[in-house]
Amino acid sequence: MKSIIITGASEGIGRELARQIAAREKGSAALVLAARNAARLEELATELRPHGSRVEVMPTDVTDREACRRLIAETMTRLGRIDVLVNNAGMSAHANFSEFTDADFDWSEKLMVMNYWSVVWLTRAALPHLLASKGLVVGVSSVAGLVGVPGRTAYCATKFAMNGFLEALRAELAHKGLRVMIAYPGTIDTDLRKRGFGPGGSPAGVSMIRDDRAMPVETCARLIREGMEKGRREVLMTPRMKLGRWLRLLAPQIVDRMAMKEVKAEFRP
Ligand SMILES: NC(=O)c1ccc[n+]([C@@H]2O[C@H](COP(=O)([O-])OP(=O)(O)OC[C@H]3O[C@@H](n4cnc5c(N)ncnc54)[C@H](OP(=O)(O)O)[C@@H]3O)[C@@H](O)[C@H]2O)c1
Repeated sequence: MKSIIITGASEGIGRELARQIAAREKGSAALVLAARNAARLEELATELRPHGSRVEVMPTDVTDREACRRLIAETMTRLGRIDVLVNNAGMSAHANFSEFTDADFDWSEKLMVMNYWSVVWLTRAALPHLLASKGLVVGVSSVAGLVGVPGRTAYCATKFAMNGFLEALRAELAHKGLRVMIAYPGTIDTDLRKRGFGPGGSPAGVSMIRDDRAMPVETCARLIREGMEKGRREVLMTPRMKLGRWLRLLAPQIVDRMAMKEVKAEFRP
């Protein structure tokens, strides 16, 4: 039975990905659901078990290095193997850097722990087991991990850092059978941006990014699941994102203008 850990499984993309994997893999997968909200995880586990998958709930705050180690150790105790680690838990943030105060530096550091260091800690703890299973590490990055987005200096930095870590890890360990996939969602219809840090560090409460064209969370999770099944190195989610990748090489100033247009007019610097 394949053992799959999904962080950030209580809400949004992680929750939907767990649903889709359970529906598809049925009895051939064991899912470990990790996030802080134990009640939401238990609710999801109750929904998924009838598919036939084994589902383990492991409440975890991934900003706590010891808790990350415990999640991996507990998975080994309960399931005896790890085939896939999906690093999905993440937080958003939006604040113009020119207006940064000390309070903004404080949450920026926390954001780096949340979106980058947690991935490093979990991956290191799981690595011997992933090498033993010739397993897969998934990083849920962002379009903001590919291009700079105004107002998102802190968030972009965390996602670029995560990509760099995962790309180097792949180069280091591919010959030992470790597989690494990075998924780059664009704007997805979850509450991520509302929950994220706003200027000064309180929850933003609104999305400062245009979300009138947001991708349904079901589509995003399906693209990640299909990427995992097909052994992709990366998942770019829209034609616009694929075009942006080439444009960035040929005419980067056009990509900068596209990024500015993604910020709602009232929040542009
Ligand atoms: N939505 C988008 O437009 C979008 C676009 C690009 C990339 N992404 C990336 O996709 C990933 C998932 O985002 P989403 O849209 O699904 O966001 P979401 O709906 O806000 O869900 C975030 C998940 O992360 C968990 N989480 C937050 N802090 C945590 C912590 N300290 N420890 C453990 N778990 C924690 C939350 O659970 P608890 O609160 O229960 O801990 C929740 O399950 C993130 O990495 C995000 O950066 C999203």
